[in-house]
Amino acid sequence: MIIGLPNLTNKNMNVHNMKKIALITSGGDSPGMNACIRAIVRTARAENIDVIGFYRGYEGLIDDDHIQLTKSKVSNIIHRGGTILKTARSKRFTTPEGMKKANETLEKHQIDGLIVIGGDGSFKGALEFSKVHNIKTVGCPGTIDNDLIGTDFTIGYDTATNTVVEAVDKIRDTAESHDRIFVVEVMGRDAGLIALRSAIACGAEAILIPERKNDLQTLLENKKSWRLTKKSRIIIVAEGDENGGAVGIGNLLKKEWPEFDIRISILGHIQRGGNPTCMERVNASIMGYYAVKALQNGHNNEMIGIVNKQVAYTHFRDAVKHIEDLNPEMMRILDVLSS
Ligand code: F6P
Repeated sequence: MIIGLPNLTNKNMNVHNMKKIALITSGGDSPGMNACIRAIVRTARAENIDVIGFYRGYEGLIDDDHIQLTKSKVSNIIHRGGTILKTARSKRFTTPEGMKKANETLEKHQIDGLIVIGGDGSFKGALEFSKVHNIKTVGCPGTIDNDLIGTDFTIGYDTATNTVVEAVDKIRDTAESHDRIFVVEVMGRDAGLIALRSAIACGAEAILIPERKNDLQTLLENKKSWRLTKKSRIIIVAEGDENGGAVGIGNLLKKEWPEFDIRISILGHIQRGGNPTCMERVNASIMGYYAVKALQNGHNNEMIGIVNKQVAYTHFRDAVKHIEDLNPEMMRILDVLSS
């Protein structure tokens, strides 16, 4: 339940006189992006603001590849994974020429504000753009990785972790039947947050994540006790772990522990798809709603998040700082419960 949301419903709050806004989804897609798009369009239209959606993130801005988004264009999308606007990681937008073209598109359409649904790279791009071109921009955190500061949950994280839990539960059944150890790789190029949350939910016996540098050593030292107790185990590895992901670690363990029957499973992009969970849809709707309100109220270069059930605004500069340390309490809980 969300409480304590600021009441910005007063029509007089459109002090920045937004008439037309642009909307993009950028970076890796994540379940809940469509719910956010729907909320943005419906909120804007309720305030008589036009919304132009540009396809494939910043690429669509550069090429002026767009669609006028109306209330009916966002019907029946709240439950769908992916993004109806498509998405991309735009290399061209990192160049001055690309940014110039994107700005020309914004000027041509007389855009007053831009909403970016995306992650770390997308907000960094928006920040660079704002140093040269003048457009009010706010962001909604769309990434399965949850690696942004300024929100408890990014759009996509809850669904992705639920997908991992469902898959690992199935792996657990076969692991137990065969007395096997499974090394399961989950997404997270730079962050172990998907690994940590899903490991607690699945009762995994160990995790290996980029934020912990000595975790492989600890795992290898645990071998003795492992042989005495359970015969089947689940080790969750974040793809960005410095020891080389599930294949690298699985092969190393096979060599070190010849007495164990070890299998490797990479969950991959199934984590990015699927219908968003209830929590995802609600959070994405709230963030989309407040993104429009934020533009009307003059926010600029800020990400809309939800922290402790409150809507929070975090400057892009601070939102994209990578989380080096995971919540140590969560790590302790995992360690205690998996022992
Ligand atoms: O940024 C989200 C993410 O899913 C990461 O966890 C992962 O490393 C990356 O995207 C994969 O990107 P791509 O789909 O381009 O391979």
